[in-house]
Amino acid sequence: MRLPQRPRRNRSNTVVRAFSREAELAPDRFILPLFIHEKNENEPIESMPGCFRLSPKGLMQEVEGAAKDGIGAIVLFPAIDDSLKDSHGSGSYDSEGIIPRTIRAMKDRWPDLVIVTDVALDPYSSDGHDGIVAEDGTILNDETVEVLCRQALCQAQAGADIIAPSDMMDGRVGAIRTALDADGFEHVSILAYTAKYASAFYGPFRDALDSAPKSGDKKTYQMDPANVREAIREAQLDEAEGADMLMVKPAAAYLDVIRALRETSPLPIAAYQVSGEYAMLKAASERGWLDEQKVVLESLLAIRRAGADVILTYYARQAARWLQES
Ligand code: PBG
Repeated sequence: MRLPQRPRRNRSNTVVRAFSREAELAPDRFILPLFIHEKNENEPIESMPGCFRLSPKGLMQEVEGAAKDGIGAIVLFPAIDDSLKDSHGSGSYDSEGIIPRTIRAMKDRWPDLVIVTDVALDPYSSDGHDGIVAEDGTILNDETVEVLCRQALCQAQAGADIIAPSDMMDGRVGAIRTALDADGFEHVSILAYTAKYASAFYGPFRDALDSAPKSGDKKTYQMDPANVREAIREAQLDEAEGADMLMVKPAAAYLDVIRALRETSPLPIAAYQVSGEYAMLKAASERGWLDEQKVVLESLLAIRRAGADVILTYYARQAARWLQES
């Protein structure tokens, strides 16, 4: 057959396939999320096999291992004892709380490790919401932003490199930027959870931290999964308010949103492969229904191809090791 175009020629061997490859994966594109608690033992997280609520010692071992695997950045999530939660999430800005103490300990040992911290009240809130809940059940925006600023400052004072507000309150990026600058933290970056959807894929994460909302849902602040233009609006606001990087979350079910932000913003775009995505890949792999290494690397590559510069993934260490082997 005479065919002027034969796309298969560009796939004919490893060398030529590498010439035509449009997206790549590398460990320096990964951020590893880690769960920590005050107990002396690591506790397995049932719906996230292979992930643990780490003890202080367990965390140090994990970070050491991650550094060896080529991971340069982590993001911390605290499991807080119920006795320390209240309706205003005041534990979130306690300078002797688990997050600031952990940051200081890690920075002592690894000054070059990039530490990302989550800003939101849910782990500290007796209501399990990212913001303060009014008597009628509404989530108070501006009152919450004040607390978020105190939380962000507390994290920056402890040595956090990148502050990542995941709360989805309006105006928080600008308010946090102002608060950081006023206190001499102009070198601390903001990674905004710009397009964070009201997603059921966060289920295992909420199990891990026991942080599910006690009543209602998060739909009045997190985005409607039906929307993509709204993500662009959020991106424009976060940029104007001083965000250094933008995030889309979850990742796999929102590749079009990643692409939309990539095309409309000059800022680096991060994507969060969330707990439910991890759980799906893990569960099917454990049953032998999917080849874990192949599906994980394919999923991460798809997120890169869609336009993400950075990926937050519970698979960061494992994927880094697979990439080194191949
Ligand atoms: C809390 C927060 C959540 C996640 C990251 N930060 C949960 C939520 O919004 O309910 C989810 C991460 C994951 O599922 O892996 N603000």
